Amino acid sequence: MRGAMIGCGKLGYPVSLAWAKFHDMVGYDVSPIAKTIEVSRKYPHLEPGAQKLLDEGSTFRIVDSMNRVIKHADIVFISVQTPHGPEYEGITRMPETRADFDYRMLRTALIEVATAAKAHKKHVTVVVISTVLPGTSARELLPLIRDNEFVSYVYAPMFIAQSTVVEDTMNPEFVLLGIDKSDARGVEEVKAFYGAMHAPEKLRFMSVASAELCKVAYNVALSIKITIANNLMEIADHTGANCDEVTDALAKATDRVISSKYLRGGMPDAGPCHPRDIIALSWLSEKLNLSHDFFGAMVRGREAQAEFIASVAQIEALAAQKERSYFPIVVLGKAYKKGTNLVIGSSAILLKNLLAESGDSCTAWDPHVDPPCTFEEPSVFLVATDHDEFYAPSFTSKLPKSSVIVDPWGKMHDIDGCKVVRVGRHRSG
Ligand SMILES: NC(=O)c1ccc[n+]([C@@H]2O[C@H](COP(=O)([O-])OP(=O)(O)OC[C@H]3O[C@@H](n4cnc5c(N)ncnc54)[C@H](O)[C@@H]3O)[C@@H](O)[C@H]2O)c1
Repeated sequence: MRGAMIGCGKLGYPVSLAWAKFHDMVGYDVSPIAKTIEVSRKYPHLEPGAQKLLDEGSTFRIVDSMNRVIKHADIVFISVQTPHGPEYEGITRMPETRADFDYRMLRTALIEVATAAKAHKKHVTVVVISTVLPGTSARELLPLIRDNEFVSYVYAPMFIAQSTVVEDTMNPEFVLLGIDKSDARGVEEVKAFYGAMHAPEKLRFMSVASAELCKVAYNVALSIKITIANNLMEIADHTGANCDEVTDALAKATDRVISSKYLRGGMPDAGPCHPRDIIALSWLSEKLNLSHDFFGAMVRGREAQAEFIASVAQIEALAAQKERSYFPIVVLGKAYKKGTNLVIGSSAILLKNLLAESGDSCTAWDPHVDPPCTFEEPSVFLVATDHDEFYAPSFTSKLPKSSVIVDPWGKMHDIDGCKVVRVGRHRSG
């Protein structure tokens, strides 16, 4: 395919060299450096893969105007910088006030592509690669092209590291494609472009908003692993343990610890072991005078998330009370996990306690803990334990009409006559 890269810096240039093996790629950059690389055939950073492709005579070439970009390309990638202020780099203490990335260069590049496409009356699929925070495309970028029929929009960030850019580009763990399903042309173009380089199962299509979140979530997940390992190192330093022995053992726990298990949004962590261990470790952090009470932050986060889920139910109850004077909240589940009747360390019970604390009229029922019961009046039913029974049509069909079902697990099917709220699961466009 005929593609173009806008912004040929540390990401855009080497990625384009790699893609030029499969596609007819041109590049455009406001800085003369990109052209200098092309002419000198010397890549300025330590990037062996990029230098090799230049030495082999890559066909990737720099053009001198946006007009030439649009004349050449059907698919236009944007990888311009989205910088942060120097105080947000992480080399000094974090300032009291925080800030978003700077999207001015990205907005300018998008406007320039869209304007040129309109002037040439030529449709292009614009694929933004630059890193943005969740919600940025909808707020900052899509409004710029809303009335431009010549532009399709895709958000496709990349997971590459400097010094292995070419390798990471050609052998990604997955290719993230944030699309608008209703834009068939844009979807087909990216399918054809990436499909020429990667097996179909590598392509992960999702909404633009999900792709934005997934990009930063990937880095967050890595940071969390580093943070855990460093906390273990600090405890080991105080207690005579060896943190490498500990992390090496954890790395072998590929069923639960290093796996997809426990990686699904739902209720806060629960059970007879997890909360109590973390709470006790918070005590130990204090006792050992560790540099940071990471575990205390985890416990407070657990409680705050239970409060958030409670608030979703409270908002639904309040909305329903406008029509009826009384709309109770029923917590479905007391057990700490599905299929058990054990309630120790249960986040369902934490949730019920927090609701009671804020004065809400609320009851809890668990089929594995309590005698059978039927529900007579419309209520907000909050699925706190994801017992299979709560999702069975034999149960849901008996829920009073006009009820609201709040499901933090996102597993509830649609129910006739009731509203279903799957927390954090917006349907892809
Ligand atoms: N470098 C990486 O390893 C990496 C990895 C993942 C994501 N990213 C993200 O990719 C984006 C680009 O990063 P980078 O490291 O390549 O930045 P960079 O500063 O090296 O390159 C950006 C390039 O865009 C050019 N540019 C700016 N405005 C332009 C315009 N209107 N038209 C044409 N060119 C323009 C600049 O001159 C510059 O050469 C950032 O959002 C970054 O967060 C980078």
